[in-house]
Amino acid sequence: MPTGRRRLRLAPSLLSADFAALGDAVRAAEAGGADALHLDVMDGHFVPNISFGPALVAAVRARTRLPLDVHLMISDPLRYLEPFHRSGGDTLVFHVESDADPEEVVRRAHAIGVEVGGAVKPETPLAALDRVFDRLDQVLVMSVHPGFSGQEFLPDVVPKLREARRRIDRSGTTTDLSIDGGVTASTAVVAAEAGATFFVCGNAVFAGGEVAANLRRLRAAVDEGAVRAIR
Ligand code: DX5
Ligand code: ZN
Repeated sequence: MPTGRRRLRLAPSLLSADFAALGDAVRAAEAGGADALHLDVMDGHFVPNISFGPALVAAVRARTRLPLDVHLMISDPLRYLEPFHRSGGDTLVFHVESDADPEEVVRRAHAIGVEVGGAVKPETPLAALDRVFDRLDQVLVMSVHPGFSGQEFLPDVVPKLREARRRIDRSGTTTDLSIDGGVTASTAVVAAEAGATFFVCGNAVFAGGEVAANLRRLRAAVDEGAVRAIR
């Protein structure tokens, strides 16, 4: 499929929002044209930070119809598939570096009727996902070291993004290719040109400025990157 016809989606990450006013952040993102929301779950073990769990996902679910993309930065994703599915997550993204067997995670997620994504840290090769690649609903390439929002995009991951794009195209599936970490109006162009279709944006949406204006800028950036890719 030509790059220009792919659906490009913006998913604000609530990790960068004001946790004491999360409902406002959800409303602003939805009103500003977000296509999904990204929820970063951290267990203080797989990553040094701790964020939130299923109860918060359920609270967000109650406020919006946007798809909820739940990024499980946790050591034991298998144990939490059901709780996050029940709380309203639409896509559950596990890390291939976690303790779980990727095949088991994908099998169980699909058995309970939830979409599943496979994530790789910046230093992890795409080959780590080989055994499940063609069964994933989303491939997530991290462009920062997981744990915190507001870090800088690591350009070294761009070749991996291109490789993932080639593999998805070859398999003829509609698997989303997600980029997560340091996505700004300038790095979004690069990621879109490399073939990303799903753009997680934390600080670029919520830290300063108006959410709708930030989303407009990001939308223009991904559109520009997609146009460059087909030139
Ligand atoms: C990092 C998280 C990201 C993060 C993105 O561990 O997975 O989703 O919140 O935030 P920004 O866009 O600010 O890097
Ligand atoms: Zn994330």
